Amino acid sequence: MAESIVPISPSSSDDRLRTFYAARRVAVTGGAGFIGSHLTSALAELGAEVSVIDDLSNSSVSRIVGLIDRYPGRVSLVEGSILEPAALSEAFERCGTVFHQAAMVSVPRSMEEPERTMFVNTLGTTRVAQAARASGATRLVYAASSSAYGDSEELPKREDMPERPLSPYAVSKLAGEHVVRAWATGFGLDGVSLRYFNIFGEGQPADSPYSAVIARFAALLQAGEAVTVFGDGEQSRDFTHVTNAVRANLLAGAAPDRLNGQVVNIGCGQATTISRLVRRLADRLGVDRPQVEHAPDRAGDVRHSHADIAAAKNLLGYEPVLTFEQGLDQMLQGGIDPIDRGVIGKIG
Ligand code: UD1
Repeated sequence: MAESIVPISPSSSDDRLRTFYAARRVAVTGGAGFIGSHLTSALAELGAEVSVIDDLSNSSVSRIVGLIDRYPGRVSLVEGSILEPAALSEAFERCGTVFHQAAMVSVPRSMEEPERTMFVNTLGTTRVAQAARASGATRLVYAASSSAYGDSEELPKREDMPERPLSPYAVSKLAGEHVVRAWATGFGLDGVSLRYFNIFGEGQPADSPYSAVIARFAALLQAGEAVTVFGDGEQSRDFTHVTNAVRANLLAGAAPDRLNGQVVNIGCGQATTISRLVRRLADRLGVDRPQVEHAPDRAGDVRHSHADIAAAKNLLGYEPVLTFEQGLDQMLQGGIDPIDRGVIGKIG
């Protein structure tokens, strides 16, 4: 299916977004991180004034400094945690829309640090929702996760399927969805949860054992080092380029109708196995014989993950801008040393 996706052309939809965001003040939590910085860049490019809150614990200082320099007067930073109400209130001042991207990310890290993951992600999202209300924001767009589905067997995953979270990370992100819905229905804070399916792209950190698989494998293969495949390598993911996640956020922020805490999948609608991913990356990087080591299944790992994206299309008009293959090419053309480059690929 993904091969037939038509890239979104600079169309009336982009004009609508430009009109909507021009001179609009919005907030991005985690705006110095991987997805958040791409989103901040795209919003500033559309003319918005973007207030970022980030504690810089999992992000690159040079990246946010680069954005502030590139968009003078349009990007600002409050250095602070989403657990700090005063920092949130400063960041959200006069912001109509809050894009909540900040989180402790990573399934394996959550297995090592379950309480901290719950604390930061679940209480953090609660504090973000409270601060958004208090500041008079009218919409909260939340970065949810496909991990919520866990090992539910049916594929592709639809939002009406029961959730079966398998890790503290998945539980914490799912709890955030409930916060968004409860604050929408109970307090009238318009909100939506975007269930991201394995987002990858330029600038994704590759240097930690907790790094997402594409960034990690690309960096290792390029360095001529071995990659470790957990389990048989036949587990699959709906790898989604960050341009698609940014697009979904822009559409959600600008959606004209009320959002009542709905949950929608943001993916490509195409699944790729980890073994195939190794082959694709090796092909593109010109590595003849990739060194592959095998390790036991990773605790908390989901077997298959593949999105049905009809609901996002219906609610937001979302369609993937880039297929998995196109996204991979774009990431590799940007070069793989994402940490030091500190460069945000141009979005949208
Ligand atoms: C999960 C979520 C995803 C979320 C992410 C945040 C699911 C289906 N997806 O990603 O939406 O954004 O958490 O961290 O739950 N792998 C290897 N070798 C490695 C690294 C990973 O074989 O060195 C395998 C893993 O075992 C896994 C797959 O690659 O099967 C993807 O792993 P990873 O990139 O860490 O993401 P998920 O845990 O799937």
